[in-house]
Amino acid sequence: MAPPEILSLKGVRAGYGEVAVLHGIDLSLARGETLAVVGANGAGKSTLLRAIMGQIALTGGEIAFEGRTLARFPTYHRTRLGIGYAPEGRQLFPGMSVDENLEMGAARARPAERRKRIERMFGIFPKLAALRRTHCGYLSGGEQQMVAIARALMGEPRLLLLDEPSTGLAPRVVAELYASLASLLGTGLAVLVVEQNARAALRFAGRGVVFEDGRITAQGEAKALIADRRVVSAYVGGLATPEWAGAPTEG
Ligand SMILES: Nc1ncnc2c1ncn2[C@@H]1O[C@H](COP(=O)(O)OP(=O)(O)OP(=O)(O)O)[C@@H](O)[C@H]1O
Ligand SMILES: [Mg+2]
Repeated sequence: MAPPEILSLKGVRAGYGEVAVLHGIDLSLARGETLAVVGANGAGKSTLLRAIMGQIALTGGEIAFEGRTLARFPTYHRTRLGIGYAPEGRQLFPGMSVDENLEMGAARARPAERRKRIERMFGIFPKLAALRRTHCGYLSGGEQQMVAIARALMGEPRLLLLDEPSTGLAPRVVAELYASLASLLGTGLAVLVVEQNARAALRFAGRGVVFEDGRITAQGEAKALIADRRVVSAYVGGLATPEWAGAPTEG
């Protein structure tokens, strides 16, 4: 029996003012599943996450979380329902400590519960424990990304949305970050990660979707997409190229 669906998008259209970006996206995610959405600059990956979080309005289609349409729920309410979001650019409070940034992710929990969750985050990202009183503005890029993800996890979501967690990080740090994420799996948490770094994301995820100009142009098992040279040469840019640098490219 297939596990119950946690997220479902049907014919989702959205954009900015007159500019349409998402042109009818159909997507679904099962409980505990990991999905990578990969694609080039400007393909609409961040827009997809903003639409799921309700930061921009849909111009068509529907998004449901655990079978319930999200249309009427503002962003903060979607967080409460069980969606954690680590946005593009991390969006931390640089003048606040790691602890304080994490607390913001569970503002509604009782103080004792909040402290318990913070300790749990240090179990997932051990590096952060020694930095807990440090202002986030002083952290390295990798450490900041860990805080951003940990803050998203502080609300104990059942679905985690990650926007380009590997941006600006050295390959070794990217590997470390994804290893921490892998340690979260198996508890029922579903993860939707959006990346230009297709290699890292497709290695992590079970399933992948390729985005191009606000449309899904390929999808399948992550392993199969990684092995598909057309996908790799067409959509894997920037950080992800070295492994395939020798692969033939067309045009
Ligand atoms: N606030 C905005 N106002 C107007 N247009 C926007 C806005 N944000 C994004 N866009 C446009 O929407 C399109 C999709 O952008 P989006 O940020 O979703 O792409 P992306 O796939 O996340 O790209 P990247 O990999 O560079 O983060 C782009 O053409 C972009 O210029
Ligand atoms: Mg983006």
